[in-house]
Amino acid sequence: MALDEERLNQHVQTAITDFGATAHAPLVIIGDKLGLYETLADAGPLTSSGLAEETDTAERYVREWVRSQAAGGYVTYDPETDRYSLTPEQAALLADENSPAFMVGNFRVALSAAKIESQLAEAFRTGAGVGWHEHDADLFHAIEYSWRAQYAAHLVDNWIPALDGVDTTLETGGRVADVGCGHGASTVLMAEAYPDSTFVGIDPHEPSIAAAQERAEEAGVADRVSFEVATAKSYDGASYDFVATFDAFHDMGDPVGAAAHVHDTLTSDGTWMIVELFANDSVEDNLNPMGRAAYSISTLICTPGALDQEAERVLGAQAGEAGIREAVTDGGFTRFRRAAETPLNLVFEVKP
Ligand SMILES: C[S@@+](CC[C@H](N)C(=O)[O-])C[C@H]1O[C@@H](n2cnc3c(N)ncnc32)[C@H](O)[C@@H]1O
Repeated sequence: MALDEERLNQHVQTAITDFGATAHAPLVIIGDKLGLYETLADAGPLTSSGLAEETDTAERYVREWVRSQAAGGYVTYDPETDRYSLTPEQAALLADENSPAFMVGNFRVALSAAKIESQLAEAFRTGAGVGWHEHDADLFHAIEYSWRAQYAAHLVDNWIPALDGVDTTLETGGRVADVGCGHGASTVLMAEAYPDSTFVGIDPHEPSIAAAQERAEEAGVADRVSFEVATAKSYDGASYDFVATFDAFHDMGDPVGAAAHVHDTLTSDGTWMIVELFANDSVEDNLNPMGRAAYSISTLICTPGALDQEAERVLGAQAGEAGIREAVTDGGFTRFRRAAETPLNLVFEVKP
């Protein structure tokens, strides 16, 4: 069949862009690790020699790096002065880990997940799962690095106040469980904001719970935060006023069973907040850049992880509001609504 030259060229251009982006990803991480972005933000405009000098790195590497960054639009180049700089917007994306626009962690998530690519290819053949614990350890840090800024920007100021009565309950002193807490970024942020409440971070991944414990100690909130190595179906305790689950519900192998256990451990007027990746309900409405990133991460991490567990209902990271609602109502909850959203996240309020 004859090829449509114009269409073929468009595909080639797309693939070149993606090839460049793939090669660019480790350079983003290197730029972050060596302080190249931060230095450009703080001391730019700089020549490649100036940037190398400021960061105590080798100029020949830095020259090539900074040109790749400028070609991708991550750094701004002034040919008149041969100097490179970051606009405030580029700096928010690359040089400020407290900005909600900070994107470096996402590159790290994708690259660390790719480290077990052969194992994943084999899992495609056999249908077996690949557990969270089987990933390269950098993934667990990368997830924390990518989500912490989102939680710092939205959790206490927007998401909790969007839930009916939860802010008041936590102000006056409530019992909170953070289920699937990972390294505990969200647990610590909530503990810092609500000193009269007590918190339990729960996750089946032991090394993550050890890291979370350290984070709580570093933040000076360890007296109010405890941790438990357990799944969402097996954690201890009852009469929680508030349960929160951040980017973890779709990772569970039996989300309906998890919902039933959360239901049993909440007070009758308690609230479960589920924070998920942004998704629309139908496949065709997710065929966009966010959907592409989320389906890819879901294929590399979330779906294999859930398949490694009970594999009762493997939601994937793009289950959307309809899929999440169905799982929690099948688990016994009767009230469900979308309470907030950002370009990256959906926030659901779930009540018995
Ligand atoms: C993408 S990470 C998110 C971690 C953390 N909530 C955050 O936002 O940084 C998903 C977490 O879900 C946890 N997880 C997976 N299956 C689980 C289950 N059945 N019950 C509870 N947690 C689970 C994993 O161990 C992992 O820490």
